[in-house]
This record gives sequence, structure tokens and C-alpha cells, in this order.
Amino acid sequence: MRVNGTPTRTIWPIDKMAVEVIDQRLLPHQYQTVRLADHAAAAAAISNMTVRGAPLIGATAAYGIALASNVDASDLALNSAAETLLATRPTAVNLRWALQRMTELLLKLPEAERSEAAWREAAALCEEDVALNFNIGKHGLELIKLAYEASGQTVNVLTHCNAGWLGTVDWGTALSPIYQAHDAGIPVHVWVDETRPRNQGASLSCWELGQHGVPHTLIPDNAGGHLMQHGQVDLVIVGCDRTTRAGDACNKIGTYLKALAANDNHVPFYVALPSPTIDWDIRDGVTEIPIEQRGVDEVLEVYGRAKNGDMLAVQIAPEDTQAVNYGFDVTPARLVTGLITERGCCEASESGLLGLFPEQAEKNSGRG
Ligand code: MRU
Repeated sequence: MRVNGTPTRTIWPIDKMAVEVIDQRLLPHQYQTVRLADHAAAAAAISNMTVRGAPLIGATAAYGIALASNVDASDLALNSAAETLLATRPTAVNLRWALQRMTELLLKLPEAERSEAAWREAAALCEEDVALNFNIGKHGLELIKLAYEASGQTVNVLTHCNAGWLGTVDWGTALSPIYQAHDAGIPVHVWVDETRPRNQGASLSCWELGQHGVPHTLIPDNAGGHLMQHGQVDLVIVGCDRTTRAGDACNKIGTYLKALAANDNHVPFYVALPSPTIDWDIRDGVTEIPIEQRGVDEVLEVYGRAKNGDMLAVQIAPEDTQAVNYGFDVTPARLVTGLITERGCCEASESGLLGLFPEQAEKNSGRG
């Protein structure tokens, strides 16, 4: 996608020596890139949310292994780097998937060949991510087209958090169909949930939709139900951090409430995800997905730019207020109208997913 008109991705290698990423903590007020020179820096960038979004977390971890292989490509060193990277964030399964893919490939090779192979594989994983997300967009576009053909009016899509290109290598997941609809000339407008406490909707989704010229309106997280009751939402499309084999979808905290409101108002609720986001080992999302708990300052404070241009955090609760900060919640499959994957749309169920990914039927029947 574009930043000030220039085609840009969220992550790119520099001479097999370092990796550059966009510092997403500074958006929308500053566009700045950061160079990650070793696997510890890649791990820190994931933990402190310089980079975020399930697919991009996976891509950064893959490059983290490549960076580690430059220093020491022994089994011990690569396994230890993978452990460090895996410990950064618990919920998005793309992280585990990317690390497994890298280590399974590299540990089979002679040590002298590993570094070259690691850079090649990390780049391949990123290219694949772009293609998967493009295809999610292609399939999701059909849903937006149908809504447009039914009403002849601008299609209003509500989204939560940022599941746009900033959360992936390019295109995004939930926002990919929206970009493709916009590019195809279908009038589309996005209701963007601000997404407290970190406000990824306000800071990131609004920024990237604006860069691409897609009409959008920022709303407080609590407004979606009201808009749905008044017929102002044609469909909801959200991203995902982990989908179970049975179609339960874990995404940014607050997604579940949107699904409940959508269900009550007969608004279609879609979850967009590339296959590396599917955890084929589990079925029950509510009990089996580890939910990240983050620092309570994110709840007790709001961070932003003051009128004089200074970046600052302001306290919004009395001193010593107790707070809790769950990063994600699980939307049960029964509330999901459909899953949009790179292979097409399906029902949120084991049979729906296996219809698109039949190779998973034999491989693993899950333990749930
Ligand atoms: O905490 P974050 O910002 O990493 O959470 C991101 C989300 O929940 C996204 O919806 C999800 O990772 C999909 S990104 C294409």
C-alpha cells in the first residue's frame, strides 16, 4: 500500500544484515522507520508493539531467526532465539507458526547453509503473506459487491482494531476487501472503532484508510450497537489472531461485543484471516486460547498528541485505581457469519474450514 503516494510494506530486509520496520507506536503523528539489527531487537519490537498484528508479528519473528543465524547458526543458538521470540506475545498463533516453519527448515540443513536459507525463507514467508492477504481481499470483495448490488448505496463496513496492511506485510486482512472494493469503484465507507485501550483503530486504521483515500468515520467503541440498530452498518469485517479448528475467532478485545450486537441486529459478521492464523490443534477458543494481559497503564491513561504538538500520556482515573487489561477476546463460531480466507469464504465450523483446507483433515484431528 502507499505512504504519501509511495508503495511501502511494513517490513523489509537490509542487505541480509538488518531489517527495517515502521514504528507503529508513533503513528499517526509521525512516520518513522526503525532498524532491527539482531534477534533481541526483533523480539523487543514485537513486545513493545513497534510492530503488531498477527501476520506481521509472524513475519518479524521469521526475520528475527534470520538475524540470529548471522551470529550463530547452531541448533542451540537458533532454538534459543526462537524461544526468546516466542515469549514476546502469547495470543497470535502466527508467531508460533512462523518460528516452527523457520526452525524446521533450518535445523535440517548443514550449519554453513543456514543463514542464507533463513533470509531466503523469511523473504518467502513475507511474499506469501502478501499473496494470502490479496486473495482474502479478492474473496471479501465479492461480499461487498453483493451488498452494493442489493442496495445500490454506499456499503458501510464496521471494523475493529487494525487489521489493515499495517498488521500484515501488505494489504491487510479485514481491510483488504475494502481496499479492493474502493479500487474497483464500489462506494464503500468504513466505521472505525477507536479500539481502546491502545486505540489501534483511531491511530492506525484511520491513518492507513486515509492514505488510500477510503472514506471512513472514527467512532467510540461503544457506538457500533447503536449504528447497527439504526441500519447504518451493512456488514462487519474484523481480523483475527487465532481461529480454532472449530471456527472460534480470537481478536482484539471488544470484538465479541460487536459480534453480539451484529447477531442481535442481523448484520453479517465476517472474520478475515490467512491460514497461518488457524490453530488446527484446538477447538474451544474460550478455554484454549491464551489471552494476553498487558500493563494497566494502557487503561489508566490515554496517550496522544497535545495541541502544542507534544506527545503525552494523561491519567483518566483516580490515583491507585485498580485496572485490568485483557488484550483479546474470543467470538464463538456461532456468532460468525463466515470466515474469509485466501481460499475463499466458509462457514465458521470445522467442516467449513476443512472444506477449504482438506489437507488438515488427516494431519491432525485436534485434541478438543
Ligand atoms: O494487539 P494487536 O494490535 O497486535 O492486535 C491486532 C489485532 O487484533 C488484529 O485484528 C489481528 O492481529 C489481525 S492483523 C491483520
